Amino acid sequence: MKKITVVGAGNVGATVAQRIAEKEFANEVVLVDVVDGIPQGKGLDMFESAPVEGFDSKVLGTTNYDATAGSDIVVITAGIARKPGMSRDDLQKTNADIVKSCTEQAVAKSPNAIIVVVSNPLDVMTYVAYKVSGFERHRVIGMAGVLDSARFRSFIALELNVSVEDVSAFVLGGHGDSMVPLPRYSTVAGIPLPDLMNKETIDRLVKRTRDGGIEIVNYLKTGSAYYAPSSSAVQMIEAIAKDKKRILPCATWLTGEYGQKDVVAGVPIKLGRKGMEQIIQIKLMPDEQAALDKSAADVKANIAKLGI
Ligand code: LAC
Repeated sequence: MKKITVVGAGNVGATVAQRIAEKEFANEVVLVDVVDGIPQGKGLDMFESAPVEGFDSKVLGTTNYDATAGSDIVVITAGIARKPGMSRDDLQKTNADIVKSCTEQAVAKSPNAIIVVVSNPLDVMTYVAYKVSGFERHRVIGMAGVLDSARFRSFIALELNVSVEDVSAFVLGGHGDSMVPLPRYSTVAGIPLPDLMNKETIDRLVKRTRDGGIEIVNYLKTGSAYYAPSSSAVQMIEAIAKDKKRILPCATWLTGEYGQKDVVAGVPIKLGRKGMEQIIQIKLMPDEQAALDKSAADVKANIAKLGI
């Protein structure tokens, strides 16, 4: 790819930029932030690691969106992070204003980009970017399911003492608190999870996954997770940049799929050069459908509070 822009030079944004550059997913990686000095400093520092790490992506940090012009992908990570005791929804109003402004500025310079939203509360911020950009839905995708399933996969691998590489997990719905895990579609080397552990264990791992974000916030106190979130965003970027057509759980605007309409929710999609190329639909059990309905209803209620 020619250019990937990362908006927000905080921990998530900077780590995403670093990983994209190191993996050479684009010739140019532009890191933008409103706080003068931070993107320039981090960008230059990253660029100076290139000879040692051996990558040829140019990294540029800036406060000016001019340098982002013509980006193929715009990753939006801007926003404030949670403090202990805060829910993702507490962030909503502040981050909606931030995401709105970043989206407007980014799409003015890169009208053909694909937007990957990472800011929280994820599903609502993906809606904000979708509405504000005016882009078709396949070009605005939110990162949440990859992170939630990465956490679930890590805990399953730890529990069974097996390679994380052999574990795949299937999650639907909103990020974190309202995530809908599907254990019968989560597997270890193809073996469904319920054949490998009892319900009690699965429930314990699901709970830890749901609380995965806050577990890190409670340790860090002044910020939230960024290694796993940035890896997850970068996996989506790789799928787009290399047109891999990976099937990943991502937040997308739904128009009736899974019984959800006019709302953003996490569902399995095919991710390639055009962005969201297909929504993979499966038949849910009544309890799974009910959990997804509830998750989508929560997102809808939060969207309504924004009055966009
Ligand atoms: C998490 C936050 C960033 O899940 O949403 O870690």
